[in-house]
Amino acid sequence: MLCEEIDMKLYIIANRLPVKVAGTNGKFVFSRSEGGLATGLDSLQTSYEKHWIGWPGICTNEEKDQQEINEKLQEMNFHPVFLSEKQIENYYEGYSNSTIWPLCHYFYAYTLYKNCFWQSYQQVNRLFCEEICRLIRPGDKVWIQDYQLMLLPGMLRKIYPELSIGYFHHIPFPSYELFRILPERAEILKGLLGADFIAFHTHDYMRHFISAVERVLHLDFKLDEVQINNRMVRVEALPMGINYESYHQASENKEVHQAIERTRKLFGEHKLILSVDRLDYSKGILHRLRGFATFLEHHAEYHGKVTLAMVIVPSRDHVGSYAELKTKIDEEIGSINGRYSTMNWTPVCYFYHGFSLEELTAMYYVADIALVTPLRDGMNLVAKEYVATKCDNPGVLILSEMAGAAVELTDAIQINPNDTEQIENAICQALEMPEEEQKQRLQRMQNILSIQTVNKWAADFVNELNATCMKNDMLRKKRIVAASIAQIKLKYNHAKQRLILLDYDGTLTALKPRPEDAQPTPELISILQ
Ligand code: UDP
Ligand code: G6P
Repeated sequence: MLCEEIDMKLYIIANRLPVKVAGTNGKFVFSRSEGGLATGLDSLQTSYEKHWIGWPGICTNEEKDQQEINEKLQEMNFHPVFLSEKQIENYYEGYSNSTIWPLCHYFYAYTLYKNCFWQSYQQVNRLFCEEICRLIRPGDKVWIQDYQLMLLPGMLRKIYPELSIGYFHHIPFPSYELFRILPERAEILKGLLGADFIAFHTHDYMRHFISAVERVLHLDFKLDEVQINNRMVRVEALPMGINYESYHQASENKEVHQAIERTRKLFGEHKLILSVDRLDYSKGILHRLRGFATFLEHHAEYHGKVTLAMVIVPSRDHVGSYAELKTKIDEEIGSINGRYSTMNWTPVCYFYHGFSLEELTAMYYVADIALVTPLRDGMNLVAKEYVATKCDNPGVLILSEMAGAAVELTDAIQINPNDTEQIENAICQALEMPEEEQKQRLQRMQNILSIQTVNKWAADFVNELNATCMKNDMLRKKRIVAASIAQIKLKYNHAKQRLILLDYDGTLTALKPRPEDAQPTPELISILQ
């Protein structure tokens, strides 16, 4: 690849752009995407010019509509990849969310295998690859995000052997025993190994990946590195953070302040337990409701005094397992409210829609307890956002030990989400915890979150990527030197006349930033002649 002196760009490649588009016929609404990947990465500030490539969340074949959406998104450096309804069905709802997602979250029984899913997954990864090739220029960096695009690093590597490619896996990487079940396990791993640098939220996910590569592909890792042909691939655990300051100072914002007042009025004197998730079986929503029901059953003294506010953001509702979950949640909430509600108290306050950032932060601020009980979760940013939003007021985080965030948030009350009794006891412990202890625990967790921010996470990632690429550059250069020595010997042996020039770094040619510019000048050539 030629090296031109232009500003370098960082291309973030994700299935979903940080904004989603809705509407038809030229009337489009652009709103913020939910989900940890989009919310976290969108708040990232970097020294590189940041561009996104991803799906805009809408299916439209109309060229005029695509053009209009494209123009609007380009203003924000967002480059849409339009997907057809069939591709959404087979690549997004299919292979991504009915095969890979359940497998990586240990929901083996939910995993579906269909050839049309796999075909579409390959096709859409190729589509993303084409869009990247259309946009990138020499020196740009490509940072691929998540399980929807695991073939992409390998596809790009074939076209650009020297491109800087990073990949971050935002969901758990399962143990080899589970991963080996996937029919396309080898293709997926080879795809990922097209990257120079691959990172995960935790050490466990990283170890599982290494073990899968060693056992499926029979490659040997030396600590955190593996050699593939003539280049190294490095892996690392880098837990993603949040934009700490923006949450910590949120209550100073006028709109958030007003929302805090509204939220306080809504829940009155009740102790407020908050839970916020996308609709997803991995989030343990039913287990949480059962834990809360058991708490109410055994603690009549809290009736009328504690409310669970449950925010569920609609997600992937065309996938069968998600639609079924929605029905079960509705039933469970109905059953709890039917049994315990009084004229002036509803135990579960249920919202099946997303909230604005201001409203969400207000709820974090007001809530006495955050109840975060995923059965498996790559990280869980909601837990971090809750802790960060607390500023001078107390609050308790109850956190599942199955969330990636549990590694850092050890001052939460940690529970096994499969244990209903533990959830019940944790709620009691949180309700009775002295304010001083709440503040001390929050403070210790805030110390961690204020350092490990999303910006630091991204900077660490890009630095590690750069370091690996530099190492690979050196390996390439060594190979070039080795190859030319053989050629020089051959030419030397066959030459009739020989002139040996020994140059020390720029004696004959001035040093230039780009090696290919360091040519002898005509004047120098004439002197030599
Ligand atoms: N979120 C949001 N609006 C809502 C509810 C949640 O923007 O109404 C955001 C929330 O702030 C968080 C993300 O969605 O940043 C959820 O990320 P998390 O890592 O907890 O779970 P994921 O959805 O990625 O599995
Ligand atoms: C998780 C995944 C992301 C995904 C997000 C929202 O955070 O790791 O890749 O974007 O959920 O899911 P969705 O299917 O709506 O994009």
